[in-house]
Amino acid sequence: MKQYFDLTGKIALVTGGGRGIGLAIARGLADCGAQVIVSGRNRDLLAQARAELGKDAGAEIADVASEEAVLALRDRLLAQYGRIDILVNNAGIDPHYASMEKTATEEWEQVLRTNLDGVFYCCKHLGGLMLPQKSGAIINISSVAGHVALKRQVPYCASKGGVEQLTKALAYDWAEHGIRVNAIGYGFIRTDLTAAMTGHQHIAPKLLARTAMGRFGEVSEVAGAAIFLASPAASYVTGHTLMVDGGWTAI
Ligand SMILES: NC(=O)c1ccc[n+]([C@@H]2O[C@H](COP(=O)([O-])OP(=O)(O)OC[C@H]3O[C@@H](n4cnc5c(N)ncnc54)[C@H](OP(=O)(O)O)[C@@H]3O)[C@@H](O)[C@H]2O)c1
Repeated sequence: MKQYFDLTGKIALVTGGGRGIGLAIARGLADCGAQVIVSGRNRDLLAQARAELGKDAGAEIADVASEEAVLALRDRLLAQYGRIDILVNNAGIDPHYASMEKTATEEWEQVLRTNLDGVFYCCKHLGGLMLPQKSGAIINISSVAGHVALKRQVPYCASKGGVEQLTKALAYDWAEHGIRVNAIGYGFIRTDLTAAMTGHQHIAPKLLARTAMGRFGEVSEVAGAAIFLASPAASYVTGHTLMVDGGWTAI
């Protein structure tokens, strides 16, 4: 059984790994034996995460919305670890809740820059390190918003829809190099990102009514899908989005 999910000896990078879903995925990969590096913009959170993840863990400051920062991260990773086997593109934002006519161009650009440009930069420059290895697993973090509409969330929905198509197109491009590219589409998981909605007295009941399982997800429930997609158990899985959404997209 163990060999299906054994990640011993694998080097894994989780962007936005200092808190929320990213930290939970980092914990899960580390539990399965991977040496995990978390990246993000907040030095203190990353230091805490690194301490929790064990003596082999790493922490790197990098803003995924900056191609220069991602290139610098690539150089540091290459110098220190020499390779990368698992890349989890988790860093993402959803700061605006407004209908289209009230969405400023700058707000659109801000969301797309982090959620879609960031995934492009990380796949190209960090995932690109997998090309000479002829192996690797990339996992892009999407959302139900990549599949169906969420009210007053045009930029976020567009960014996650883009992530899903990027995932498929890259899976096709890099299959010949032995690199698998998949996505995870989460439903509403209780984190900082969703606190304003999952704690809202009017919005929360509407979200729960729309969720087949009738409850929000917890961060303790998010790592399994990432472990699977990173592991030998998923050796013939690429270009797929695994929904972890309590049945949101089933109904
Ligand atoms: N929670 C949900 O219900 C849900 C559902 C579907 C999809 N998702 C997706 O899951 C991912 C994680 O969400 P979450 O709920 O864990 O959110 P969160 O608690 O707000 O955490 C977001 C993470 O992304 C990092 N980040 C944001 N912008 C960044 C940037 N420009 N460069 C580097 N790191 C950046 C943050 O790091 P800093 O500490 O540097 O800010 C933080 O670690 C996102 O892609 C989100 O869209 C979440």
